[in-house]
Amino acid sequence: MSDQFLLTIESTCDETAAAVIDRRRTVVAAAVASQEDVHQDFHGVVPELAARHHLERIVSIVDRVIERSGLQPRRDLAAIAVATEPGLPGSLLVGLAAAKGLCVAWRKPLVAINHVQAHIYACQMGREESVFPCVGFVISGGHTNLYHCASPQHWKYLGGTIDDAVGEAFDKVAVMLGLPYPGGPHLSSLAAEGDPQAFSLPRPLLHDEQSLNLSFSGLKTAVRYHLVGPGKHDLSKLELAEQVRRDMAASFQQAAIDCLMGKAIQALRMTGLTRLCVGGGVAANQALRQQLQQAMAIHQGELIIAPPALCTDNAAMGAIAWEQVEAGDFAPLDIDIQPGLLRG
Ligand code: KG4
Ligand code: ZN
Repeated sequence: MSDQFLLTIESTCDETAAAVIDRRRTVVAAAVASQEDVHQDFHGVVPELAARHHLERIVSIVDRVIERSGLQPRRDLAAIAVATEPGLPGSLLVGLAAAKGLCVAWRKPLVAINHVQAHIYACQMGREESVFPCVGFVISGGHTNLYHCASPQHWKYLGGTIDDAVGEAFDKVAVMLGLPYPGGPHLSSLAAEGDPQAFSLPRPLLHDEQSLNLSFSGLKTAVRYHLVGPGKHDLSKLELAEQVRRDMAASFQQAAIDCLMGKAIQALRMTGLTRLCVGGGVAANQALRQQLQQAMAIHQGELIIAPPALCTDNAAMGAIAWEQVEAGDFAPLDIDIQPGLLRG
């Protein structure tokens, strides 16, 4: 049994997660503690609070997965893997400090996971055949990026948002519509009852044939102007008719989906690749999943979207660390966090 398992830790944003994963990439045990309740009043993640709550929860989350796995860490673990980039600095530091401490205590090597790459690797979970090479599309609260993924370890940045991530736009529009945080799933339910054509909203950069960049800030502002008018900031007195809320949710969601789908298809065309792998919290969106299926059928490409439970932040997608272990790619114990996104 020795060296056949990895402990993976994820604390890049506001989810504290750990998992035990075997060499075949099967998840033996996994746990996630969400901080939705902590950040709800602020309509978004407060970095300082996120870090403090990771600190409170990380030991019990790791304890829980080790206990559930029934393993003896010193005997059974091959390494301890933790997401070190990109993410909120305080949040990343808590995960990395915990992982380093366990490496010293259990005398195990450390593996540094790139969180964005792990979101794409979620598409590999449960599949025998490799999903690489592919165009990888990460669509989450913090990222909206396209990559040429030659293999699990060889990635090239193709383009991405030049301002807000798409999940951030979902969350901010949800606030305008009076929905709780995180707004994405709530907005998507409301949109199911609305008319996506009701409001005419922009699709920024969609028709820019030269670049794979996206932009969601103007779309968010356009929603605001439709609802409250330019220059007005107070949303608290906004009383919207129920049908207006539904129609705006549907119109916004459709504009966002059109932009995401357009750039994904363009990335396939520009790279000559035929397989598209999509991960990240917004990939859980049902309307997007359905429309992407239809679009990819027309383009005769292969679409793999991460299972819904592995779209939002989790430690199971840390199975990517097995690729690094197998390549001998371990991190030194003095490795630091890398909060920003490296586009190279
Ligand atoms: O991947 P994730 O958990 O965290 C980051 O790495 O950023 O993504 C969280 C984001 C939030 O913005 C949330 O509103 C969005 O994913 N999200 C959704 C849905 N489920 C989660 N957005 C649209 N539709 C959904 N069903
Ligand atoms: Zn994420």
